[in-house]
Amino acid sequence: MIEKTYTMIKPDGVANKHIGDIVGRFERVGLTIERMELSQVSEAEAKENYAEHEGKPFYDGLIAYITSGPVVKMVVSGENAVATVRKLMGATDPAEAAPGTIRGDFGLTMDENVIHGSDSVASAEREIGVFFG
Ligand code: RTP
Ligand code: MG
Repeated sequence: MIEKTYTMIKPDGVANKHIGDIVGRFERVGLTIERMELSQVSEAEAKENYAEHEGKPFYDGLIAYITSGPVVKMVVSGENAVATVRKLMGATDPAEAAPGTIRGDFGLTMDENVIHGSDSVASAEREIGVFFG
């Protein structure tokens, strides 16, 4: 099924110059970049996006990290876009992520794991609303 997902290159991915590589990986598997914007995440956007993690030990660090520098916000569409982007991203912890995945190739730490991607079509719709209004 053709669907849309929200994905975001995190501050480390931008700072370490992986934007072109990541966009290239999406296009190579046939995904379409529908919207793309380089900007900073506000505290309000960060809290709305990561509401599911409020109260967890890593929550404050996560909010501080995601608002710490420019990110690339994207809406990406295609066949099974949500699962396809998650597969290209790899496991959350870069130490566990397989080689050849974005996090496996470029990830540094649990926070500096290069990229965010929606985990379901419902999350994608919500996150597109948060970041693109
Ligand atoms: P994301 O939401 O960023 O696409 O990552 P994900 O689905 O793979 O992982 P999720 O469980 O949603 O966690 C969101 C982000 O929080 C940080 N995290 N740190 N220290 C920890 O135990 C921990 N757990 C999660 C990561 O940066 C993760 O991407
Ligand atoms: Mg998540």
